[in-house]
Amino acid sequence: MSQLLVRGGHSLAGEVSIQGAKNGILPILAATLLTGDQVELRGCPRLRDVNASIRILEALGCSARWEGDSLLADTAGLNGCTISDILMREMRSSAIFLGAVLARCGEAEMSYPGGCELGPRPIDLHLAGLRTLGAEITESGGVLHCKAACLRGRDLILSLPSVGATENLMLAACGAEGVTTIANAAREPEIVDLQNFLNACGGAVSGAGTSAVTVEGRRPLHGCAYQVAPDRVVTATYLCAAASAGGEIYLRNARENHLATVTAALREAGCDIRADRAGIACTCRERLRSIRSVRTAPYPGFPTDAQAVLMAALLRSRGATVFEETIFENRYRHVDELIRMGADIQVAGRVAVVTGTEKLHGAPVRCTDLRGGAALCVAALAAEGETAVGEIAHIDRGYESIERDLRTLGADIVRTEMGI
Ligand code: UD1
Repeated sequence: MSQLLVRGGHSLAGEVSIQGAKNGILPILAATLLTGDQVELRGCPRLRDVNASIRILEALGCSARWEGDSLLADTAGLNGCTISDILMREMRSSAIFLGAVLARCGEAEMSYPGGCELGPRPIDLHLAGLRTLGAEITESGGVLHCKAACLRGRDLILSLPSVGATENLMLAACGAEGVTTIANAAREPEIVDLQNFLNACGGAVSGAGTSAVTVEGRRPLHGCAYQVAPDRVVTATYLCAAASAGGEIYLRNARENHLATVTAALREAGCDIRADRAGIACTCRERLRSIRSVRTAPYPGFPTDAQAVLMAALLRSRGATVFEETIFENRYRHVDELIRMGADIQVAGRVAVVTGTEKLHGAPVRCTDLRGGAALCVAALAAEGETAVGEIAHIDRGYESIERDLRTLGADIVRTEMGI
């Protein structure tokens, strides 16, 4: 098992390029099924979750191969509609394949994605929407059996703007006869990315980025070459890394318009952040200040995926900052690990109060989830001495190589085998 060894106390300097977005590419990989053709995904990040999606495509009879930083997926050979329990467990967001498989094959079978490290991960909104489109869905022994001789476009209303449900229903609606509208749709940039991809394949999807998405179904879709958008959570992580360690960095390819709430919080804390057409520059020279409360919310609110890394950046700030997590139940599991490093954090239900301390110290810690794991690295950059970050498979789900990028920025961080 691998771990990351981080020696804190080095300010950051330099430039890195931001990888393609994990949350953008996963629904696009599911969407490739709708084309029955070859698709070139340029700038596709090499991640554990991308590999898990590739294995799902292969299990369904499709193929995918890397050519440089492009992933070439060919879904012409699709010959199955069942996703095994093992593959479903590898990646909780695999539920996104349901809509696409159903649209292409008229049936789908996969195990029910249970809870995950962030708490329960229900898909009731996905299933209710698919049923309204005409799918018959039954569950036995934790396996979902879905059938739809003919999906029909309908007006759907989500009771909350779920990202995954919006994406799943967009994919199913592509295979439905007539027009589907999704009201109270999620507005995340990844939804816009999925729309752009589907339209590049010949689809007729509009409204993404607003809360009303419209899909004209049954358009013949074909392959295309598509550039994957930069990852806004990785961008937020490296900005928080610079805020934590201090220094001056440039994130090539990063876009500020997708993370305005994060940059606003970091500016309030004392960072100087400037965006230009090619990326984002961030300079942090002083000890940070605490900021007004941070409340996670659906886009364009403060992203729940950036909560942990911002918290880590503020551990040595002057004053106290209140965090309120409103999206997931179990998203403070990194807190106990940060406390091992000397952090002062009080949690009560969905609220966490971070009181800045002057010093953090290195400690053995373990990743509890993907973004919580990244937060441990962000904190370790500012800690005195060495931090050993264990269970980093969580981090590898969403960062191509966090140690390569942070080392390029001047951090002292290496990946080693445990016990060496
Ligand atoms: C996606 C992102 C994840 C991010 C999250 C919120 C991907 C691969 N993952 O996850 O990184 O943290 O958006 O921005 O894109 N809910 C229900 N019923 C449902 C679906 C969701 O109650 O059928 C609830 C969830 O439990 C959660 C909330 O809605 O409390 C938001 O979830 P959702 O937007 O669906 O997140 P994901 O798509 O799973």
